[in-house]
Amino acid sequence: MTFDIQKIRQDFPILARTVHGKPLVYLDNAATTQKPRQVIDALVHYYEHYNANIHRGLHTLAEEATAAYEESRLKAGRFINAAHPEQEIIFTRNTTEGINLVAHGWGRKNLKSGDEILFSAIEHHSNLVPWQMIALETGAKVRYVDIDETGHLVWDDLLEKLNAKTKIVAISQMSNVLGTINDVKAIAEVAHKFGAVLLIDGAQSVPHMPVDVQDLDCDFLAFSAHKMLGPTGVGVLYGKRDILNAMDPFLGGGEMIMKVTYEESTYAALPNKFEAGTPNIADVIAFGAAIGYLEGLGMDAVREHEIAITQYAIDALSRVEGVKIFGPEDAHEKGGAVTFNYGDLHPHDLSQVLDQEGVAIRAGHHCAQPLMRRLGVVATARASFYIYNTNEDVDALVDALGAADRIFGSSSSEARGGAGHAVTA
Ligand SMILES: Cc1ncc(COP(=O)(O)O)c(C=O)c1O
Repeated sequence: MTFDIQKIRQDFPILARTVHGKPLVYLDNAATTQKPRQVIDALVHYYEHYNANIHRGLHTLAEEATAAYEESRLKAGRFINAAHPEQEIIFTRNTTEGINLVAHGWGRKNLKSGDEILFSAIEHHSNLVPWQMIALETGAKVRYVDIDETGHLVWDDLLEKLNAKTKIVAISQMSNVLGTINDVKAIAEVAHKFGAVLLIDGAQSVPHMPVDVQDLDCDFLAFSAHKMLGPTGVGVLYGKRDILNAMDPFLGGGEMIMKVTYEESTYAALPNKFEAGTPNIADVIAFGAAIGYLEGLGMDAVREHEIAITQYAIDALSRVEGVKIFGPEDAHEKGGAVTFNYGDLHPHDLSQVLDQEGVAIRAGHHCAQPLMRRLGVVATARASFYIYNTNEDVDALVDALGAADRIFGSSSSEARGGAGHAVTA
């Protein structure tokens, strides 16, 4: 291991708490991660020492707050290797808002009846619904690329569905359900051949692996601070400068204007054009501390740890009779989300029993109802890992499954015949 997990755990106050008298085992990181002391301190420090509105004030506090806010922009840009961080990094509330910004700001201007929007079968609702909305408004059509039995995109289906009518390909780099990692660099290449732009939903990938927007040659990338040690309420939309410049604003109001008369307005330059109103100053500043924390560990090391713990989890869960895992079995092909079902136990019941044991997992449709239908299930359980999780956390999960079995007994064992370790779609 290239970093010291026990040392890392000391930075996360919440990991010291108990739940129902048991030590907390937090395995819901794909939903949101915990926050280190450094991020919490940055937030408190801002409010205690230089709370002020940014950009317009001419006093010391406003200047300090503006500098810290803009520093976070540069850090976020550096983190994904944006060529022009001071213009290409737009702060949003979250991934969802970033995708909506593109759907409305880019889509309204560039989509018309007959055009096609291509996404994939594994998308989160936040990369489906905005496209369906803009399709309704513009007359464009939505299409999706299918997955195979291992949860990977079917490349031939992608090539078949990409055509001169495709104006945008919107695809996640890492699935929040199956963990599958899509080769978005190859997708950018083929999309660009047809003149389409590529939006990457990086909500799961950016927190978990090195992501370089120049290397990928994507046109947009959206991600959320709260899934990478940062506070809730902050997201990033990266966009190539020329494309952002050509887009219309999404929201109108203060901060995003150049000149306003009663009749009309002209808009500010990037990035302000897309940041109307007072932004989430405190949380953006604290997000800078989160980025600093991850940079300190190194994203290669973060990924290395994730591969190790995910493989340990897949292997351990596979040995539990009645567990059925969905998605790739090789951790090198996926992120740190392991989705499974246990016998015929409803994932909600399972999650409640695990909670009694202090183990926090996710149960439900994971904001991916079409994918659930594609997998032939109504819901699944999901354990997802991050930098502070250990193999002992996985062991605690497996032990807690034993507790579930003791409570529900035959209801789960009946369905076990042959369930085994199936990876199916
Ligand atoms: C793949 C993926 N895309 C988008 C989102 C939406 O993120 P947010 O709720 O922060 O906007 C999530 C959140 O779980 C996700 O996992």
